[in-house]
Amino acid sequence: MVTRAVYPGTFDPITNGHLDVIERAARIFDELIVAVATNPAKQPLFSLEERALMVREACAHLPNVSVETFNGLLVEFARSIGAKVIVKGLRAISDFDYEFQMASMNRKLAPDIETVFIMTSLEYAYLSSSLIKEVAMLGGCIEGLVPPPVLPRLREKLVERGCISHSGL
Ligand code: COA
Repeated sequence: MVTRAVYPGTFDPITNGHLDVIERAARIFDELIVAVATNPAKQPLFSLEERALMVREACAHLPNVSVETFNGLLVEFARSIGAKVIVKGLRAISDFDYEFQMASMNRKLAPDIETVFIMTSLEYAYLSSSLIKEVAMLGGCIEGLVPPPVLPRLREKLVERGCISHSGL
């Protein structure tokens, strides 16, 4: 039987911390679907399509990983694609409460779907998409923290929004 897992997130933008979790999950499960959420609550910098495109580019070397977008309930999306596992990354103890709450609610909604946590590698434990955007906006170097295809797209977006000049990043 093929084990299909879903790794959901906002990915605004994908970071090397996310990619680390994706690569490791792809070694455990037969198929991994990275599910890019609409997440209007966060008012993402990138559109849904732009976020999904960057995830696709970053995961191009992983044959058993595909990328989808979704809105609505995660468990409904997981069911619709036949995924029995939700993968989440855990960076620090501070993630635990929130993740525990979400995993418990998802289990209540869909007892047949299991949440599995992967500890983020220590070198990426401090990363978040917001921090990446903040550092980039303030002219700091984010090379090595995001997959290479993200760099030009982030630069372009920040120039477009008037956050940095053409020479920035
Ligand atoms: N490396 C780097 N950063 C990481 C990371 C890792 N391994 N894991 C998480 N992060 C960061 C993200 O970059 C993000 O940072 P930001 O807040 O600065 O943008 C932050 O952790 C939160 O990640 P996000 O992708 O927004 O995920 P989330 O854990 O908040 O959950 C969904 C988002 C889409 C999975 C969740 O809201 C959801 O399931 N929505 C669907 C609606 C639903 O079903 N709701 C009921 C849920 S019980």
